[in-house]
Amino acid sequence: MANMNSRLGTWSNIGVSALVLSAFLITSSALRADGQDKTKPVTFSKDIAPILQEKCQDCHRPGQIAPMSLLTYQDARPWARDIKMRVLQHSMPPWFLDKTVGIQHFANDLSLSDEQIATIVKWVDAGAPQGDPKDMPPAKVWPADDGWKLAKVFGRQPDLVLNGPDYTMKANYQDQWDRPISDVSVTEPRWVRAVEMRPSNPEARKVFHHILASLYQDETNAPSAQVPVAKEAVFPGTGGLLMEWAVGKNYDIYRQDAGKLLMPGAKIRWEYHTHSTDHDVTGHAQLAVYLYPKGETPKYRTYLALLGTGRRGPDGLPVLDIPPNSIEESEGFHVLKAPARLENFQPHMHLRGKAMSMDAILPDGTTQTLSYVGNFTFNWMTNYIYADDAAPVLPKGTVIHIKAWHDNTNENRNNPNPNEWVGYGDRTVDEMAHAWVNVTYMSDDDYKEWAAEHKQGHGEGGEALR
Ligand code: HEC
Repeated sequence: MANMNSRLGTWSNIGVSALVLSAFLITSSALRADGQDKTKPVTFSKDIAPILQEKCQDCHRPGQIAPMSLLTYQDARPWARDIKMRVLQHSMPPWFLDKTVGIQHFANDLSLSDEQIATIVKWVDAGAPQGDPKDMPPAKVWPADDGWKLAKVFGRQPDLVLNGPDYTMKANYQDQWDRPISDVSVTEPRWVRAVEMRPSNPEARKVFHHILASLYQDETNAPSAQVPVAKEAVFPGTGGLLMEWAVGKNYDIYRQDAGKLLMPGAKIRWEYHTHSTDHDVTGHAQLAVYLYPKGETPKYRTYLALLGTGRRGPDGLPVLDIPPNSIEESEGFHVLKAPARLENFQPHMHLRGKAMSMDAILPDGTTQTLSYVGNFTFNWMTNYIYADDAAPVLPKGTVIHIKAWHDNTNENRNNPNPNEWVGYGDRTVDEMAHAWVNVTYMSDDDYKEWAAEHKQGHGEGGEALR
């Protein structure tokens, strides 16, 4: 704890006390769980089924991405040992963020609490007993496979459904990357409020591992948000990623006051990453788009930025230099030319990826760790989306410092060949190192107002920065 406090020493008082408080709650509830266990054994029906419903079954049920169902005791029992191993490793559910540093409140947190992990471990160690089936919680009702989840949220069907071209993934084949292009059907500039993506059919859900939808458009006549931002303030990114889909992730609703812009003539470049099964499967990506009403302009525009490490080579591409049998560190510095809110952190690396951190070096010289993924796993391009009251708001002049570590030794189980030199490139056997971050720029006045409110400790901005 002393160690943790000193690491957090640079955080605002509000931040530290909130974190200390939550650490205290975790400890005291863990003790309570311990106390109970002496008299009542942990059983599947009473203790485990509710955890699986909450944290696992979204993927671990028939027709979804995971290899096996965890709906019933009969389904779960044969997997008890693997379940214990995976939850102790923090590799299931797929949430690889370090919980001891940086921001900890997320809109899409999949992870288990320490108490839930302890309960699962005790259950397995006790021989994975079923207990009384009468203790089972009612089965969770899942939305129909063919409906949009956002239709429930917004009470209506999407304004646009964009379909990518079909792709056939051959049986028993290597992972494939396909990058087809299709058109976006808007005839005037429109602001996007939310997007939802999915593979087109349940079979395809088994083979599509992730899908990216990047937007390519001419912005010459683009309207600005209510708070316009000078072009030179915006991090150079791509045309903008509209949406990334990976197993377990379904939709993005932008924050209440922000949106992305679609221009007439826009095109989407899809990236399909597919894994094969034992038979050929055909499917495509579907993207549902909810727009702001015609004529309504959100206050802020959110831009997707690619915050990379490494200097740029003569070809404009980043330079990575990862010698054989080594762990290599690379870093990059990106200066905010206007105040901004960072909405998420999504590290992107390939097979040798090991860890990535994002720090903010504030104009007063202090450094604060925003997020650290210490256990990066190539199969899972998890996107860590900050909760509304936790998204860091940073002053102009802040330097966003990205650090990446690649493990090119044989300790890394994903490493196809530790004796090979690795450089930057598209293929999985090459490397990349960047974070995708949605950046919402704001005016100096809005920033001052925000800072004044948060200095006085209003709201739950404990994790936000000065
Ligand atoms: C976001 C979707 C998702 C969630 C949530 C999820 N899983 Fe998984 N799980 C998968 C996928 C996909 C795999 C296979 C790929 C892999 O191992 O990463 C997997 C693999 C596993 C395995 C290994 C199976 C094997 O073949 O060895 C175990 C055990 C497991 N999950 C348990 C759990 C438990 C327990 C939870 C909840 C506490 C959980 N998972 C939550 C998607 C998920």
